[in-house]
Amino acid sequence: MSKPDENRSKRKKEAKNEASENPPLPSLENKDLSLSEGSHLHQKTEALETALNAHPRRQKQLDREVRDALPFLLLTSCFHSIGVDSLVLNQKPQQRVTFRHQKGLECLSPFFTSVEETPQVIQTKIEGQVPRWLKGKLLRNGPGKFEFGKDKYNHWFDGMALLHQFEIEDGIVKYRSKFLRSDSYLTNSKNNRIMISEFGTMAVPDPCKTIFERFMSRFEAPKITDNCNVNYVVYKGDYYVDWKKYIAVNGATAHPHYDADGTAYNMGNSYGKHGSNYNIICVPPQTPGSDDSSLQGAKVVCTIEPEDRMKPSYYHSFGMSKNYIIFIEQPLKMNLWKFLAAKAFGKSFLDGITWEPQHNTRFHVVNKLTGQVLPGQYRSKALLTFHQINAFEDQGCIVLDLCCQDDGQALDIYRLQNLHKAGEAQDQVYNSIATPYPRRFVLPLNIDDKKPVGENLSPLSYTSATAVKEADGKIWCTYESLHDEKLEKAGGLEFPQINYARCNGKKYRYFYGCGFGHLVGDSLIKIDLNTKEMKIWQEDGMYPSEPVFVPEPNSATEDGGVILSVVLTPKQNQGSFLLVLDAKDFTELGRAEVPVQIPYGFHGIFVPH
Ligand SMILES: [Fe+2]
Repeated sequence: MSKPDENRSKRKKEAKNEASENPPLPSLENKDLSLSEGSHLHQKTEALETALNAHPRRQKQLDREVRDALPFLLLTSCFHSIGVDSLVLNQKPQQRVTFRHQKGLECLSPFFTSVEETPQVIQTKIEGQVPRWLKGKLLRNGPGKFEFGKDKYNHWFDGMALLHQFEIEDGIVKYRSKFLRSDSYLTNSKNNRIMISEFGTMAVPDPCKTIFERFMSRFEAPKITDNCNVNYVVYKGDYYVDWKKYIAVNGATAHPHYDADGTAYNMGNSYGKHGSNYNIICVPPQTPGSDDSSLQGAKVVCTIEPEDRMKPSYYHSFGMSKNYIIFIEQPLKMNLWKFLAAKAFGKSFLDGITWEPQHNTRFHVVNKLTGQVLPGQYRSKALLTFHQINAFEDQGCIVLDLCCQDDGQALDIYRLQNLHKAGEAQDQVYNSIATPYPRRFVLPLNIDDKKPVGENLSPLSYTSATAVKEADGKIWCTYESLHDEKLEKAGGLEFPQINYARCNGKKYRYFYGCGFGHLVGDSLIKIDLNTKEMKIWQEDGMYPSEPVFVPEPNSATEDGGVILSVVLTPKQNQGSFLLVLDAKDFTELGRAEVPVQIPYGFHGIFVPH
């Protein structure tokens, strides 16, 4: 097990070496980097502008370039992982790295291939019964177009957002889909080429420009994508957000949290002359009787400085208990110097993200009301996490559950060239990604100075997760696995979901997710935290999406309701369907067959009528 002290001097050396390796920034003098005045992505906040004006022009341009070049990473990036058997089972759980050795996987290339939208509502064919109490819309999001003209995107997360709607009422399901008319989609469509850079694809210079103009355009700040293809995000009852009109934060995660009164919390980065900061944002609920759905009143409640401000960590979500926000700073690092130089060197932003397991994972705990970061310095071994499951407070501790991997190469592996492979080549891709497992950490809120070094500060008898005080006062955390051995055979679990309205921030018993026996989910799983037993739904050649839990009105039990999942097949002319499972016993209640090809998507929400 690596310790923080041992890593510190190593980190300093590496930082020094890396600084000398950083490519020099291209000269920006005499270049106008500003975007059009009308672009909402170029709004300047008063606070940032004041700071920028206090510095020389060169610094101002750099600030602007950093600030504008990076926010899309939080807007667009979404990760999904995989699994099968563990290679290393006899070591201590904290030390194992779990890869798989699967063979003969089915080719899933059609899931990552462009489709046409279905703007007109179409009927579906119902098998079984869709409960009459289930009324509303399942809204899902994901990439659905992967090229414009001769230009092709490189990464799954680059695809243009295709919005899906399943409208459910009186046991009937209707479907339609439409591409998000983002500036990126419209600009690319108009020019029939990729004009806006995405996560893994840097837009190349316009061939209509002169050679000199094309050369110089490499030194302009890349235009920022607004291709939000990850999730539906709701603030004050609305689904669209333009942060920069209201607060000095660029972008935000696709996974906000909500209090019962509708207050929303999210996280986003800000960028300035010294690098980046993490920010926790709070959006107040809609005033009763008001139709104001803007972000008026949004504020930054806390700013956290990264361990290295020029190499902030990539993050995709965060945890929230009743009184605290939990931010996980993982060693998946975004090198801002490389981002700045990416366009000049023909690299994508993805090329500037590196897994650096020599660093530990840090947990930051922030009081939601005061914005204060708790003094406890919590650490664990390097882990990669994209989705938190839940967090709650108990006996002076925060209990934090999340999906984790022991290796951080996954983002790179989801390049489209990998996803379109077949046969052994595809098996190799799958087997190169670490298995994602649900794990529990405990973070003690009050650190008693009198407690001896080496003592486990967790008083919780129901979890084997530990929080051990070290000589330097920091807390070293080890996890408890929230599953039994069956989950290893199912390929691990990602896309975790809970009965959010009832259990978020509270003690809970059940969570759901996709089993990852392939590059995308190939089963649906329910885990009972009391027993760690799991229920599974699986059908040969079928690939379910993230399970969305919908509670039955007035249900007395946590799992009283249904699971909705869009199930896909890569086989042509064999329809996809919306699956409805009884969340209690995981039996199928019904399915609604959709006669169109649907690409594999990311997330969704259910909006009740
Ligand atoms: Fe996500």
